[in-house]
Amino acid sequence: MNILGINAYHANASAALVCDGQLVAAAEEERFNRVKYAAGFPLAAIRYCLKAAGITLADLDHVAVPRNPWARIGTKLLYALRMPRFARERARAWASFATIPEELARALETNPNQIRARFHRVEHHRAHLASAFFVSPFDRAAVLSADGLGDFASTMWATGEGSRMRVHGSIAFPHSLGMYYTALTQYLGFWNFGDEYKVMGLAAYGEPAYLEEFRQIVRVDGTKLRLGLEYFSHHRHGAEMSWREAEKTPVLGRLFSDYLGARLGPARRPDAPIEQKHKDVAATLQVRLEEILFQRLAALHTQTGAKELCLAGGVAFNCVANGKIFSRVPFEEIFVQPAAGDAGLSLGAAFYVWHEVLGRPRGFQMSHACWGPGYSASEIRAAMDERSLFEDGFDIAELPEEQLVQDTARHIAAGDVVGWFSGRAEWGPRALGNRSILADPRRPEMKDILNRRVKHRESFRPFAPSILAESAAEFFEHAHPSPFMTFAYPLRREKRPSLPAATHVDGTCRLQTVDHDANPRYRKLIEEFARLTGVPAVVNTSFNDNEPMVCAPGEAIDCFLRTHMDLLVMGNYVIRKRRSADAERSVLTASPQISEVSR
Ligand SMILES: [Fe+2]
Repeated sequence: MNILGINAYHANASAALVCDGQLVAAAEEERFNRVKYAAGFPLAAIRYCLKAAGITLADLDHVAVPRNPWARIGTKLLYALRMPRFARERARAWASFATIPEELARALETNPNQIRARFHRVEHHRAHLASAFFVSPFDRAAVLSADGLGDFASTMWATGEGSRMRVHGSIAFPHSLGMYYTALTQYLGFWNFGDEYKVMGLAAYGEPAYLEEFRQIVRVDGTKLRLGLEYFSHHRHGAEMSWREAEKTPVLGRLFSDYLGARLGPARRPDAPIEQKHKDVAATLQVRLEEILFQRLAALHTQTGAKELCLAGGVAFNCVANGKIFSRVPFEEIFVQPAAGDAGLSLGAAFYVWHEVLGRPRGFQMSHACWGPGYSASEIRAAMDERSLFEDGFDIAELPEEQLVQDTARHIAAGDVVGWFSGRAEWGPRALGNRSILADPRRPEMKDILNRRVKHRESFRPFAPSILAESAAEFFEHAHPSPFMTFAYPLRREKRPSLPAATHVDGTCRLQTVDHDANPRYRKLIEEFARLTGVPAVVNTSFNDNEPMVCAPGEAIDCFLRTHMDLLVMGNYVIRKRRSADAERSVLTASPQISEVSR
């Protein structure tokens, strides 16, 4: 039984394939077409999923699409009558979804008559809920989905039990925690789709000085979230996402009103300096989000009586809030799958069909994120050949795994910046040890080095550590697993000298805990680094430079050549840019004694 989930004509277009209840492959379209947050039709992701399973379009039994035009149809019609633009957007969305079977057949050069799959429409937030609960380790859990807007709702909550979910409630347009965060992100001068995480990073530099005002911007009426609509404009002209077809880049219009500027002062222009006031607005934005989220979760805890929680939707990427849930709401375990945002809708829609529509029992648990493409040694070598690496100024070695791990750990300990390309690409926006850039977390200067030489990011954004799972409690004030880098915890004060390059200004880290099973090779590398230095963690940032994370070997090599990484490890190949004898000597003589000095 093959079920393909497709998130199409929406940001974070993606595909996921579930065969007999097991996830076989999942990937975002941006990894293939190289457009960040790519919207449109996920043709390459679908092709990849089918190829990974060795099947064709004709072998699909079901296709699940995470959008249901009939959901909240009455409210949609009311808005359509009031807003002609909204009506046009709806009509366009309906038309594009109606043609998905034909689009699939055309894209895969198949006769539409060969498609025997049944098509299903799954409401946006039900797909989010399914993406969290049905792949979680829990048999019973409270489940919450929260984001900007999908099928005219912004939030939905449920109890998940076995292979069923019981939805308890939802919050409808225009009230939305996601819209609130995005509107204020725009006000702060960050207009690109997906910039909210930058503002979350900025918040740590400020004080929540505007809390009274923000309690008007977003209010709570009983258990209901209510936006102060005078601060917003999306309820007047719609908030439908559009995308430029040529570039496939998703675009959202302005969501805040002039009244917000009248109350808080003029919005920051994107090229203007970031002042303390902007940091304080970001801090207030974050604190108010947390207040609302924790209230909602406390009510859900009471309503469901569940000890476990699953989160999905864009708000579930707020690792700062996630990390505080344990101390604010009495949930004992929390699961957030790595593609918690809209990319995860394809996964959720497919599992929704398997369990809710077909009534099949649970039998899959997402214990790692490696659901994207992998490449053979010959494919890696072909990419190296294509770029003439064997002829130009590089030292190249092919090493057995043990030596490869030892050499790489030694280079990291000596201060080198290492591109690490291994196994199948990650599902979701976080590099988790397969498409990562790695560095020494003990060196305070490493954040600047990474930014100057490779990443070119805003200086206020922190880097994150990957840490051996069993060491998390020794280093952090919480030890709940964070295998997908979706929780930020305070670093214990006495450990701050160990991880200065991976610690945010407020003393927290957005950590990845690495256990024995999820990624054995990456785990060995960190173990070796710990043996050399006494610190069981490395800085782990995504393998890219202001582009989607690299996916294929050629993209990794291009990024390596374009930036100033010292070393590229791809499969069993180690590629080093040649440098002076002095610099080389310092790398090769790195030792635990040197490490102690830098601690
Ligand atoms: Fe969503």
